Amino acid sequence: MASRAFAFLSAACTVGLTLAAPWSKKAAPPPPPPPPAAALELVAAALELAWGVPWSRFAFYGCASFGLLSLASYLVPLVLANLRGYNDLKRRYRAEWACVTGASSGIGKELSIALAKQGISVVLVALDDDLLKATTAGLVAQFPDLQFRAVGVNLAASDGSIYMKKIAKATADVHVSLLFNNAGYMMTGFFHDAPVEKHLANVHCNAISALLITHHFLNKMYAVYLSICLSLSLSISIYLSIYRYR
Ligand SMILES: NC(=O)c1ccc[n+]([C@@H]2O[C@H](COP(=O)([O-])OP(=O)(O)OC[C@H]3O[C@@H](n4cnc5c(N)ncnc54)[C@H](OP(=O)(O)O)[C@@H]3O)[C@@H](O)[C@H]2O)c1
Repeated sequence: MASRAFAFLSAACTVGLTLAAPWSKKAAPPPPPPPPAAALELVAAALELAWGVPWSRFAFYGCASFGLLSLASYLVPLVLANLRGYNDLKRRYRAEWACVTGASSGIGKELSIALAKQGISVVLVALDDDLLKATTAGLVAQFPDLQFRAVGVNLAASDGSIYMKKIAKATADVHVSLLFNNAGYMMTGFFHDAPVEKHLANVHCNAISALLITHHFLNKMYAVYLSICLSLSLSISIYLSIYRYR
């Protein structure tokens, strides 16, 4: 009996020790890999999408082509403009004077500077404010050999004759052979939110004023043969974009 109990105990100890021994344990599975960064996950998902199903491949090539086209539309004109050189308006149109509306800031101001660099005097038409005074003074200081005339008017006025009288008077003794209808501004927000008077003022400034000014100068230009007229303001550009006569 004692020997049986002893044998049983020895067997239990042997099994227990064997199970508890470190070499009897199975190797622990390796820890899971750390989750990839969110950006990588996105790229991986995008690539999978791009190469996985036909429409996504199409989208991939579409996006890539659009990107390349955008880049080309910026680079090609830049290269061509540099190869071709600048357009010498003074020589080409025998221009002595130009009229730029909205000349006190932005595109109009840069246009005025570019014209002055070509040796062309400028009539600057814009709102009668400090900006117009400062821009005109800057041009006078920078180009002392040229003339600059500031005409402060509100081109959004519903009665165009008010500003046309001032513009005509300021340019009566000179031949303006280059006209840039640039004055204008965008209205933001919902159409119905703005009072109708604001919309009308916008149309007057962006379109009606350009029509009146163009009509005035083109009649003077035709009388002396050479001219160019450019309209940049969005609304009027639709039907008065570039008018050239030589
Ligand atoms: N920038 C663009 O991405 C873009 C795109 C398409 C078309 N455009 C058009 O290009 C033209 C110039 O743009 P910009 O970015 O150079 O604009 P900007 O910097 O705001 O210059 C507009 C000019 O117009 C003058 N102006 C505004 N309201 C006037 C008013 N009631 N009477 C007289 N002058 C007035 C301004 O005079 P003050 O400075 O004294 O206000 C300023 O000299 C605008 O007609 C605009 O619609 C611009």
